Amino acid sequence: MSASTILPDKPSAAPLADPQRVLDVAPWLRGPEQVGDVRLIPYSPILGARVEGFRTAHLGDTAVRQFLYDQLLSRGFLVFAPGSFDAADFVDVVRLFGNPQYMGTPHTPKSQVNKAMNTIDSKTKKTRANYIWHIDQAFQPEPTRFTALYGEVVPDNGGDTIFANAAAAYDLLDPLLAAWLETLTAVQSFDAQGFLTYAYGHDPELLAKKRAENPPIETPVIKTHPETGRKQIFVNELYATRIVGLTPVASQAVLNLLFDVIKSPEIQTRFRWEQGSALIWDNRLVQHRGVGDFGTQHRLLHRAVVA
Ligand code: SIN
Repeated sequence: MSASTILPDKPSAAPLADPQRVLDVAPWLRGPEQVGDVRLIPYSPILGARVEGFRTAHLGDTAVRQFLYDQLLSRGFLVFAPGSFDAADFVDVVRLFGNPQYMGTPHTPKSQVNKAMNTIDSKTKKTRANYIWHIDQAFQPEPTRFTALYGEVVPDNGGDTIFANAAAAYDLLDPLLAAWLETLTAVQSFDAQGFLTYAYGHDPELLAKKRAENPPIETPVIKTHPETGRKQIFVNELYATRIVGLTPVASQAVLNLLFDVIKSPEIQTRFRWEQGSALIWDNRLVQHRGVGDFGTQHRLLHRAVVA
């Protein structure tokens, strides 16, 4: 055996990297913060906050609005406890963060409570796309900034929504790898996992129209948040199909590596629904998915998005 094939048994001048990069949580750790009687309590070390003391009486309060907006950007998601407001006021609360818009499909139709929101109802919904890690509308040139959900009917057990801090995930990447990924683009498509086909396949003409309205687009693999400057892993399992310029095998390997990082427990937080609780998150920081572990129990959420 030649000397060059023998592995070193003592540290060399260029030691191997640590087998596991450890997340630096310091940039994410925050204490409670308060404006007037609205108080924010951290939800997990790296993501989220519970909003306490908020009532619809605060809707016209510009200091509270700015506080909640800034906190949403830095903490990724906000949780409103049951009793903070009811479903009829949900859209007005979402309006604190921008202009709420309807974003539905035949399986997630307009809500009866307010036409600016749609429902995610386990009794009628047939598609399971929400159980795959994603960023809302990542297949569109201008994706949704914020998504909000209100728990109308929630399972006694299961049906959580989970979040991954996709900027902390970026920080877990080897710096050389991260620098290379920043030079790459990916193709993202609404139909990557067959969503359009499931939703509109019963009507070939409508399916063709929806496909024409939502062609695959090229996006950065790593995207920079326009307001905070943080870098986020933007390719996601639901919509990313390939990395431009790589062979299919290399492209899939790189995508799988990034999807795996998003699945690291260190950068994740799990939200457990209660009837009447509400959530809003910043799609430019987090990736998210629902958990389909509630069997035949009923789960009905209202959703409003801010473009
Ligand atoms: C969503 O993907 O917008 C919904 C997530 C969930 O069902 O918890």
